[in-house]
Amino acid sequence: MPRSITITEMPPDRLNADNVLPLVSTKALGRSLYRYLTITGSTNDDARRLGERGAPHGTIVVADGQTQGKGRHDRPWVSPFAQGIYATLLLRPPGFAQTDTTLIPLLAAVAAAEAIESTAGELTPAIKWPNDILVNEHKVAGVLAEAAYTSENLNFIVVGIGINVNTPTSALPVRPLYPASSLAIEAGHLISRAALLAAWINRFEHWLLRLCNGEQAAVRNQWSHFATITNRRVTVRDSNGIICGSVEGISDDGALLIRTDEGKQVHILSGDVGVEEGYSTGGKSKCVSNKSTSS
Ligand code: BTN
Repeated sequence: MPRSITITEMPPDRLNADNVLPLVSTKALGRSLYRYLTITGSTNDDARRLGERGAPHGTIVVADGQTQGKGRHDRPWVSPFAQGIYATLLLRPPGFAQTDTTLIPLLAAVAAAEAIESTAGELTPAIKWPNDILVNEHKVAGVLAEAAYTSENLNFIVVGIGINVNTPTSALPVRPLYPASSLAIEAGHLISRAALLAAWINRFEHWLLRLCNGEQAAVRNQWSHFATITNRRVTVRDSNGIICGSVEGISDDGALLIRTDEGKQVHILSGDVGVEEGYSTGGKSKCVSNKSTSS
């Protein structure tokens, strides 16, 4: 498989409405609610501000570059100009059950994996819990979902997708766990960002409609179809320590279910997961029972 590409010309596509919307076939997402910025700080922050001002369900903020791109666990998301996809959907769908909020990041990852499959057919995407998208064991995309509440009630969710599409190795971050790559590096040729973004929006709406229709199991099943780590031994690092065990699957709300070596089932809501042979503890930490996330 190719491990480097030479980008001799910039692909002509900008992710503006004229290039993307002709490929979008949704009812509610995007369309007249498509907001394009050449460059911005973070599309998640932009969508959040729009949400606080009452912007409708289906608004999407898309930028060709970000200066303050945010990843999970307060990490930066490197967002070089016109090489990746940086987009955030604002959701407040009618009929959405607040309890389904935790499934939204998984749904976004499923839509991304399907979009990669359909746009770069020679690649086989996989999802690492909860929503990292891998190709050939390299991270090519990630999801950052943030919920906003008014007192106890969900007001809106913003769900951002970052995909390294035509990013050369020199522009990728160094990652300790799963190395970063881009779709172009893995495929050996440039890929249309406009087609990929449109496919993500289309697949996202498909699965959101099914979720709102009570088909949570279908979303989880499709996530499991792409999942890499079921039945594998993993090490999970979260704010409470490190847990080692075997992955049994995901719970109804999308938490990772691990059977520890002591035979206890642990319910992980947030953390970094690595398969054991690829995960370094730096020689300082060892596996511990994690009381705060156990069930
Ligand atoms: C991760 O850490 O894997 C999640 C990365 C999410 C990055 C995307 S890029 C578009 C949106 N805007 C942001 O600032 N972050 C998300």
